[in-house]
Amino acid sequence: MIEWEQQYELGIKSIDDQHKELVRLAGRLSDLLINAVEGEDIYDEMVEILNALTDYTVYHFKYEEDLFEKYDFALKTAHVEEHHKLVSQIQSLDLRAVDEDQVTYGKKILKFLISWVFKHISGSDFLYRDLFIEKGVQ
Ligand SMILES: [Fe+2]
Repeated sequence: MIEWEQQYELGIKSIDDQHKELVRLAGRLSDLLINAVEGEDIYDEMVEILNALTDYTVYHFKYEEDLFEKYDFALKTAHVEEHHKLVSQIQSLDLRAVDEDQVTYGKKILKFLISWVFKHISGSDFLYRDLFIEKGVQ
């Protein structure tokens, strides 16, 4: 069970909502893995969720990066680099490997994604928080 925690809230509604959506999608993957019965083929569903997660992540990063530009966020280069790195890591996942042991592989991906997201929010997103709030981003 993956749940949103208040400590990850920036106090900027649009961005908090997007972060919650990412966590909700990760939760879908988690539910799928938890509920999978031995030998069940969950490949298609897993790929579907991972694609949705990737698309939404790209959308969310673009949203943040446009604001970095608009308000000339001093740490934007390092932050954007973190975004790019994650997107290329997700895109380089070899989904064919999923066929071998779907649940084990899925759990590995899930663990990686969840720890990345929470670490990124608390370590990097909080660095633009004051600027965005000052600029009136909602
Ligand atoms: Fe970010």
